Amino acid sequence: MKVTVVGAGNVGATCADVLAYREIANEVVLVDIKEGFAEGKALDIWQKAPINLYDTRTVGVTNDYSKTAGSDVVVITSGLPRKPGMTRDDLISTNAGIVQSVTENIVKHSPDAIIIVVSNPLDVMTYAAHITSKLPRTRVMGMAGILDTARYRAFLAEALNVSPKDIQAVLMGGHGDTMVPLPRYTTVGGIPVTELIGEEELNAIVERTKNGGGELVKLMGTSAWYAPGSAAAQMVEAIVRDQRRVFPVCVKLEGEYGIDGVYLGVPVILGKNGIEKIIELQLNEDEKQLLETSRGHVKEVMEALDNINAAKA
Ligand code: LMR
Repeated sequence: MKVTVVGAGNVGATCADVLAYREIANEVVLVDIKEGFAEGKALDIWQKAPINLYDTRTVGVTNDYSKTAGSDVVVITSGLPRKPGMTRDDLISTNAGIVQSVTENIVKHSPDAIIIVVSNPLDVMTYAAHITSKLPRTRVMGMAGILDTARYRAFLAEALNVSPKDIQAVLMGGHGDTMVPLPRYTTVGGIPVTELIGEEELNAIVERTKNGGGELVKLMGTSAWYAPGSAAAQMVEAIVRDQRRVFPVCVKLEGEYGIDGVYLGVPVILGKNGIEKIIELQLNEDEKQLLETSRGHVKEVMEALDNINAAKA
């Protein structure tokens, strides 16, 4: 299996590293526009192979998409990260152009690839990649739900003093302040979380999760990378190993949850064909309302992208 990661910055390099040391692919191609940058990162990862004992071949290239030809999965991490004080949506005009041009190059050389978008604003960059690629919606998706649920699970594990491995959760909606964590579907070793934690503490964790990316931007002056890169690698693994994992993933909804034509995180089954199935939960009225707010917000940003593209045309 051949996997390309576009963007050799912190998120892309972390993703490539996880793909390599966990031997998720035989070959990982790292691409960047900055001369020598991807080559250097890929070489560094390759030189770690004799220490960490893996044989995934990692190769770096400067903007040469011919080397990505025949990739089975492509992860797009290109674009600017946030700086303190910015929202993810503030990145739209810069990152849309980058993601669209990367997608064109990818599809030209790997028409059968499955594309995972990581760039922000995530839901709208998934839209940008999907319309540019003209691929079926099952093959163009965004990574955010695994990251957001990971943050939620990590905060819960800390509060309950249990292993994060035992916390199962699902979260829906856009990757931003309007995301919809679903405590009703959160369990700890099979026990509903509401039996183990008070409402106030749980609400505080939900709020912290919604601002999870911003908390890190404030601490580091730039966006996170370990969890986002690992989350993208986990999606790649589910696809290349046909694991049929159940994850929240951003995909174009076509009638599911009563929503049409908007890109939102929903639980899906992820396997060799990409999105094998979208799972429709029976949401209660409050949850439906939260999802509707999230839909409205993502739709607005999608329209902002349409306006940018129309102005360019
Ligand atoms: C994250 O959630 O860490 C990413 O979307 C990056 C960011 O700027 O928040």
